[in-house]
Amino acid sequence: MQDGKLSIDPAFTVAPVNRRTFGSFVEHMGRCVYGGIYEPGHPTSDDDGLRGDVLELVRELGVTAVRYPGGNFVSGYKWEDGVGPVERRPSRLDPAWKTIETNAFGLNEFMLWAGKADIEPIMAVNLGTRGLTAALELLEYANHPHGTDLSDRRIEHGAKEPHNIRMWCLGNELDGPWQLGHKSADEYGRLAAETARGMRQLDGGLELVACGSSGRAMPTFGAWEATVLEHTYDVVDFVSAHAYYQLEGDDVASFLASSVNMDLFIREVIATADHVGAKLSSSKKINISFDEWNVWYLRELQQKGMPEEWSTVAPRLSEDPYTVLDAVVVGSLLITLLRNSDRVTAACQAQLVNTIGSIRAEENGPAWRQSIFHPFALTARHAQGQVLQPRVAAPTLVTSQHGEVCVLDSVATYDAAEERLVVFVVNRHPSEPVSFSSELRAFGRVELVEARMLWDEDLFAVNTMDAPDRVSPKPHSSAQVVGTALQAALPPASWSMIVMKVS
Ligand code: AHR
Repeated sequence: MQDGKLSIDPAFTVAPVNRRTFGSFVEHMGRCVYGGIYEPGHPTSDDDGLRGDVLELVRELGVTAVRYPGGNFVSGYKWEDGVGPVERRPSRLDPAWKTIETNAFGLNEFMLWAGKADIEPIMAVNLGTRGLTAALELLEYANHPHGTDLSDRRIEHGAKEPHNIRMWCLGNELDGPWQLGHKSADEYGRLAAETARGMRQLDGGLELVACGSSGRAMPTFGAWEATVLEHTYDVVDFVSAHAYYQLEGDDVASFLASSVNMDLFIREVIATADHVGAKLSSSKKINISFDEWNVWYLRELQQKGMPEEWSTVAPRLSEDPYTVLDAVVVGSLLITLLRNSDRVTAACQAQLVNTIGSIRAEENGPAWRQSIFHPFALTARHAQGQVLQPRVAAPTLVTSQHGEVCVLDSVATYDAAEERLVVFVVNRHPSEPVSFSSELRAFGRVELVEARMLWDEDLFAVNTMDAPDRVSPKPHSSAQVVGTALQAALPPASWSMIVMKVS
């Protein structure tokens, strides 16, 4: 067995754990909304048509914030279609996903759901087919208490209290040629700045996100961020980043090292943002909202393209069952997001239910946890206090996509008040176990509280309706504290979480 060492010290702080790191995403795409969070008539649904079984799993997942309503969908969306008496709401073509949108679910239903799920809403405005006026009207409708046409209309629609939405995305992926209303960086930057200024005139306390690139592989990556931020630097707080990963062929080693790419992406966006700040002599820092990330088997969509025919309402889209391997990669992407908590101050796993979702729900049937649910839920529950950056000394392996990478990917969190130290660690090696030790004397006395891991003989095992718990965290029997040293043996392709009491 290969050997590694993690040096962890309370002085190695990165930043406090940001609760917004554990965000998710609900888009009007496939069956995320209809048949996902919303299904009137389902045995567990309440009077508002919100599925109780899904809500329970959302709470268990530990999601803290949810971005809505898209995604590509938002770039053709008229928010007004989704408010007011349901029987008068129009059905429309949704060009993003080639489906029919009934508008039975809209802003007020989402806010009702957000209240029940106890999550912070993150709202996106349409800067594809629309602009400043629609954004201002949506903001007034959503957030103004009362006494204006739009705010009184919201009250008439049953939402007496203002929604008080703080965080807003200025459009979605407008660098992408697939995006309705796709723009050049200058065109988008100008529109985003104008919209941000207008929105701030209505409410100076908003937190605004400018669209960064829809992926690191975009030909305009880097230049897009620089130009957009030159237009928007003073009026936005975040630039977005999106990244999806999938297993290519049988290249398990590269897939397990996906977080190397995410880490690089983050560092490049920060460097670009700081470069613009330096050019503008600004002391302000723009942070990253990593508001779409996940494992996504996009291949089929990429190969076949969008269907020729318009599908009906809420077709099955991207409902791949996630494997053990996918769960290990998701765990390692979360480690990367946490490790960059000083600059990645919001993140949304895309998406929440059914479509690319951590949760699966069948029409009139049960809901269950996908494999990727588990590393998210455990990290959201146990990461608390300060993020600590471990110093890692461990063997490396060579991957075809990311070159030479360290086999161990890790982060720790430390909550002095709660006397909790938690280590999250991935063994990226596809076939070799690795052991590690960590001398934790600097934390005082150390006791093991709980140790769990995601690993399986069958890396491709999945959860299904009939076997919903086939993949779930196992006890980590090799993790032990000897004196003040943590030791554990990590099986190949595994994610582990070790919780300790320190005093
Ligand atoms: O999350 C699915 C899609 O991926 C979103 O609609 C879009 O923003 C991204 O390309």
